Amino acid sequence: MAERTISQTETDLIQRAHRVMPGGSLGNIGRDIVITEGSAGRVRDASGNEYVDYLLGSGPMLIGHAHPEVNEVVREQVAKGTTFFANNDQAILLAEELVNAVACADKVRFTSSGTEATFYALRTARAYRKRDKILKFEGGYHGMHDYALMSMSPGAPHDFPRPTPDSAGIPRAIEDEVLIAPFNDLQTARTIIERHHEELGAVIVEPFQRLLPPKPGFLQGIREVTAQHGIPLIFDEVVTGFRFAYGGAQEFYGVEPDMCSLGKVIAGGFPLAAVAGNEELMSHFDASSTETDGFLPQIGTLSGNPVAAAAGLKTLEILRREGTYERIFATGNRLKNELQRMLDEAEIPASVVGEAPLFDVFFTDQEIIDYRSTLLADKQMLARFNELLLARGVLKGDTKFYISLAHTAADVQQTLDAFAAAVDALNS
Ligand SMILES: Cc1ncc(COP(=O)(O)O)c(C=O)c1O
Repeated sequence: MAERTISQTETDLIQRAHRVMPGGSLGNIGRDIVITEGSAGRVRDASGNEYVDYLLGSGPMLIGHAHPEVNEVVREQVAKGTTFFANNDQAILLAEELVNAVACADKVRFTSSGTEATFYALRTARAYRKRDKILKFEGGYHGMHDYALMSMSPGAPHDFPRPTPDSAGIPRAIEDEVLIAPFNDLQTARTIIERHHEELGAVIVEPFQRLLPPKPGFLQGIREVTAQHGIPLIFDEVVTGFRFAYGGAQEFYGVEPDMCSLGKVIAGGFPLAAVAGNEELMSHFDASSTETDGFLPQIGTLSGNPVAAAAGLKTLEILRREGTYERIFATGNRLKNELQRMLDEAEIPASVVGEAPLFDVFFTDQEIIDYRSTLLADKQMLARFNELLLARGVLKGDTKFYISLAHTAADVQQTLDAFAAAVDALNS
């Protein structure tokens, strides 16, 4: 297969980006690549190179890019108007579908991003509990707000439960409001929760943390100890919602939180996310059903945007069709298993970690179970692997393969050929 060539047009665009954007980027993936179009399981760059796409817009495009049925409802909605601020039919129908599908969802409040959704979920839990501290897990990602950017990727982590801020500019005071526990270590997490239960307003967790599946009993144990002390448990399902199962990770792993955040898939590639939760917690958004000091105003110009809601509704309808999840899981399992087999045969110490719809490889012989074990993996080798795949027409995120319903047998074959060539190159 031809190596990737970069045209003058793409080079010019990259230079222009560096002139007007910090770091020459949107802040997302680090590579100098300009994507100009996507269709089904593939994208194309400004040089005309085509890639099988496992970046999938960082996850929203579960059913593939530019799905004709989604495009049709989007065009219809655009012709009728793109935003109203007032209630709109598409947002109401989408809220109804989220309540039907997601076990913990009695009510839904829309936001524009997953960051806002986790931010409001935490604020709601604190309003309900009338306590300020939150507990999150080391390595867990909940977006970019001040509480989320605590021990998300600490280079030199403090001892538990002391947080390490991940960004400049976060007020020092926030560090006193966040406790950190190790993912997949129920005993330590339980001890921290029990020691601090009087101060805790919420526990937030990605039920599948980045790429780490929960150990059997971990989520159940966290559910038990939070319920015992009346602390709201929030599942951040921005990634896992409608991806691991129609009802999300709470269905897939069989544990129901009190609230969850949703995003990515539910908006079909547009900016929309949501907080969903039980009746009591969600009543804090309603001035008429909560005490005055318990009211939580939540306003966003584009919240529940009708174009995004229409795209999300159609995406969910497509996901409800016979055999969709079987297909996503079959594609993901094939790629996961084949990659692990090739690495084993080449005697490269590595493990492919995750679930079928979302996984990646860690270049280490250590078991990957929590954030600190992920630090043992060889990041440079992963970066090289990613570059080798890119040169062979396979695009992925820096640390993720997202699988799409739209990936075809030809896409999978091209990927397997790229895996074989990349594993070969890593070994030489
Ligand atoms: C688990 C999780 N929570 C929250 C977010 C933040 O969502 P957004 O990028 O829409 O702000 C992300 C984004 O990737 C995420 O993966």
